Amino acid sequence: MKISKWNVHRIILARIVPAWILLSIFFGVFTYGTETARINKFVFGLASDAVGDFNKEVGVEFYTLSFDRQEEVLQSILHKGQFVGISVYDKNRVLKSEHWSRADKNLINKIKNSNRYFPMAGEHHHEIIKYGDDLYVMAMASLQYNKGNIGGYFEGAYKVPSLAVYEMNDRIYESLAAVIVALFVSGLIFYSIVFSLYKKASSLSSDLLESNFDLMEVLGSAIAKRDSDTDAHNYRVTLYSVMLAESLHVKESEMISLISGSFLHDVGKIGIPDAILLKPGKLTIDEFEVMKSHVHIGQHILEKSKWLKGAQEIVSCHHERFDGKGYPNGLQGEYIPFKARLFSIVDVFDALTSVRPYKNEMSYADAVKIMLEEGGKSFDGLILAKFLEIAPEAYAKINKASVDILRGKLESKLRFYAASTD
Ligand SMILES: [Fe+2]
Repeated sequence: MKISKWNVHRIILARIVPAWILLSIFFGVFTYGTETARINKFVFGLASDAVGDFNKEVGVEFYTLSFDRQEEVLQSILHKGQFVGISVYDKNRVLKSEHWSRADKNLINKIKNSNRYFPMAGEHHHEIIKYGDDLYVMAMASLQYNKGNIGGYFEGAYKVPSLAVYEMNDRIYESLAAVIVALFVSGLIFYSIVFSLYKKASSLSSDLLESNFDLMEVLGSAIAKRDSDTDAHNYRVTLYSVMLAESLHVKESEMISLISGSFLHDVGKIGIPDAILLKPGKLTIDEFEVMKSHVHIGQHILEKSKWLKGAQEIVSCHHERFDGKGYPNGLQGEYIPFKARLFSIVDVFDALTSVRPYKNEMSYADAVKIMLEEGGKSFDGLILAKFLEIAPEAYAKINKASVDILRGKLESKLRFYAASTD
């Protein structure tokens, strides 16, 4: 009952890939944010330096210059640096003068239509504008008289050098690539560690399941071989139970206990003396009382195994009858556990349709007739109705199958339900 290598890969990948994608997105956004902030700081610095040059050269004295001299100063700044446009406002934020160079009409319109923010005394305001492949920084600075009074504002549209833009983009892509590669490599390392641990754990769990299955078979066979040639009855009733439970959409988490309970339903017969267990004729009242005790004995045997504890429900109640005339407790209707009500149907059906040392098999049609008569008496009518729906197919698949085939089918069901409830 080994879990395949590919299944282990599939299980780990299903958990690691989403986590890797989420981490990549998180660190990618974080890196992009920090790199962009760093670059913005850098280009704002470039623009601030250029604005500082204007302040150093003329500053607020600009307003005292003649018109021709003002134009001369602005033209000189425009041609000296990376500015494509400069504007000067008075203290009332009224545009006094503007000059443009190396900027097309659309760019000028875009810059002119962008929001204008006039900063407080001694402050700068920056804004990045993207135009085609180029980056521009709109820098606005206040021009001050002494004592911090604002005399006007200087605004420059600064073109970030193409080489700097190229390097900045490169830097962002490099940082993002480094993050993704680092996550990928750490993911691979993490994956190989988890794979080896998971493989070890699943191998232990698989060995444990196999041991439990062996224990169940040994216990079931020990009693089956006492009153029968083979233990085929145990395999058949268990497979009938599984088919019926699946048709009734019983929860997957209930299936392991249904399987072990069905397989070991008569395990308590191990404590019944041969003189009673193997008696060919009818049992006396006292003998029958002894025979009835097999349900309690079975219950006690199973108490000793944690894995088989779930089987107790069927073992202790498989002789209860829906009308309350069964044993050991005379439980009635839905007071009988569901799995025991289900099992008692397939147990009787198989007893009727199979050969035993003391009797021949009954035909399918005759068996169904008897089963129908017992609806509401021995059996829960609703579960019986469902069983009769699946009975033709179940009978065809199971009744004449060899023990080896039945064992293979049961092993595969057990593996499936053990894996689905992991
Ligand atoms: Fe029994």
